[in-house]
Amino acid sequence: MCGIVGYTGGEACVPILLEGLEALAYRGYDSAGVAVFDGEKISLCKAQGQLSNLSVLLREQPLAGSCGIGHTRWATHGEPSYVNAHPHMDDAKQIALVHNGIIENYQNLKQMLIQKGCEFVSETDTEVVAQLIGSLYMGDCLSAVLAAMRLMEGSFALSILFYDEPRTIYCCCKDSPMVVGHSESASFVASDIPALLPYTRDVCFMEDKQIAVLRPDGVDYFNEFGLPIEKTLTHIDWDVEAAKKGNFEHFMMKEIFEEPVAFKKTLEQYVSVKELRLKTDIFPWSQEEAAALKKLSIVSCGTAYHAALLGKKFIERMAGLPVEVDIASEFRYGDAVLEPGDSLMVISQSGETADTIAALRMANGRGCRTVAICNVIGSTIAREAETVLFTYAGPEIAVAATKSYLTQLIVLYLTALDLAQKRGRMSAEAVASRILEMAAMPERMQRILDNRERIQYFASRAFSVKHVFFIGRGIDHALAMEAALKLKEISYIHSEAYAAGELKHGTIALIEEGSLVVALATQPELLKKMASNMEEVRVRGARVLAVTNGPADGVAANSHEQWELEPMEETLTPFCAILPMQLLAYYMAVQKGCSVDRPRNLAKSVTVE
Ligand code: AGP
Repeated sequence: MCGIVGYTGGEACVPILLEGLEALAYRGYDSAGVAVFDGEKISLCKAQGQLSNLSVLLREQPLAGSCGIGHTRWATHGEPSYVNAHPHMDDAKQIALVHNGIIENYQNLKQMLIQKGCEFVSETDTEVVAQLIGSLYMGDCLSAVLAAMRLMEGSFALSILFYDEPRTIYCCCKDSPMVVGHSESASFVASDIPALLPYTRDVCFMEDKQIAVLRPDGVDYFNEFGLPIEKTLTHIDWDVEAAKKGNFEHFMMKEIFEEPVAFKKTLEQYVSVKELRLKTDIFPWSQEEAAALKKLSIVSCGTAYHAALLGKKFIERMAGLPVEVDIASEFRYGDAVLEPGDSLMVISQSGETADTIAALRMANGRGCRTVAICNVIGSTIAREAETVLFTYAGPEIAVAATKSYLTQLIVLYLTALDLAQKRGRMSAEAVASRILEMAAMPERMQRILDNRERIQYFASRAFSVKHVFFIGRGIDHALAMEAALKLKEISYIHSEAYAAGELKHGTIALIEEGSLVVALATQPELLKKMASNMEEVRVRGARVLAVTNGPADGVAANSHEQWELEPMEETLTPFCAILPMQLLAYYMAVQKGCSVDRPRNLAKSVTVE
């Protein structure tokens, strides 16, 4: 989704705006632009395509000024084009603004404004907002913004320049993230933390319908009624390097290589490794509550949904608690049966996914116990859930989720152990032995990374395939869902996950000579069944790659290649099995010359429906 930056201070703003937009580029975009107050007027510079196109224009036609806003646009209303790129202005050229989100009633507002004589040049809802504020402006900027907020429906994060208030930036948001920062001589606004880190670590997360007025000497905050409010600052301890690529060609590979450390960091937040015990007070349910739980609902999107599918396996197997998993966009418009006191968990790396936020708000509205697994401190979901279980993956810049998925699995697995222990289904000793095996996981993962050439070699021979089928049973089926998403979203190769036992009910009709089938066969009690499923596809011409949990009978005879994980307790295999799947997707995408970190049509955080 789009990225917003704003700066007002003593420095030339254009280099700062460009650097901030670059830091947000991972969010996905197709055009970019800046608006700068140069002391006499508000000037715009916009370009379609990559940020480098905008930089070239700004070198050719520099914009001088120390107050400005910038935007990278991920097209929703109107095609990616110069005309539709932000910033947008009112007819009088007195106001310039940038916008993230979707104004759902923009057509009605546009008709009203046209009747007032406004002339539009773009197809965007954003230009409607600029004209709306321009039509409401009677000399008081704050009043105009407040009035516009009351008329707009949908989601918005806005940064606004008014000609009459030079060096000031007005910001507001609703259902779209915005973070504000201040250093000793400047104020900053951005859609996400990485754009602010080079300047300040103490940031303020804007809440819905609040307004921030940024000036070089500080920031004033107001509520939706125009009354001054105090906001607390959150200190961000990410290191700036963590949000940079380092020596890696892609953020995705860097983040895959960070998984062993992310695993260790997250594990240590929830267990005492030395004493091999859970920090039970951190988990959401007391002993009594855990014993009384009848069901847990988990709702999320994309990779986070796939993590939830594994969470279901972990919690049902170890804690004996029924778990219902749902896709947030289905859940929010479905007929969810949620009673006051029911427990609902949401999982979100960004904490800003619109559908997941909506599901959380629905559960909060019905008096449910809400728990979030989230990777971003201060994000909307982290702020609005009753209990937050943070993952400690650090900033994840690549659109394809990797380390965030792994750390979500850790928190889900430990939640399952906590519930199992509190519900009397697992002894402290049994839990301790799992923790002991988890503590050894980073080294196992590192060995997989150290021996990645085999995966790279396989990808160099397989990347021209048109279809890939990932099959598995039980835990492996849930894992196959994530493996398939990784491959399709960065390599654009059609790939699907299927329950292996389901193939014969239709999908096996698609298997032909040369089809690539990746068989995840890490569950000992299902191995024989998997071996026969592998034989079914092999005898029909498929090339079979098997991933097993140690040596596995019957697999070698029915696969053309076998990647053997070091033997481990079968519920722990996803932590290692996902690595070869992520690496396979990465190498196939690199072989195809795809934009690995920023795949076409995708954004890192889907902040609109
Ligand atoms: C997965 O690689 C994608 N990045 C996407 O499916 C993502 O997992 C999904 O949009 C959910 O995002 P969230 O975890 O930030 O809510």
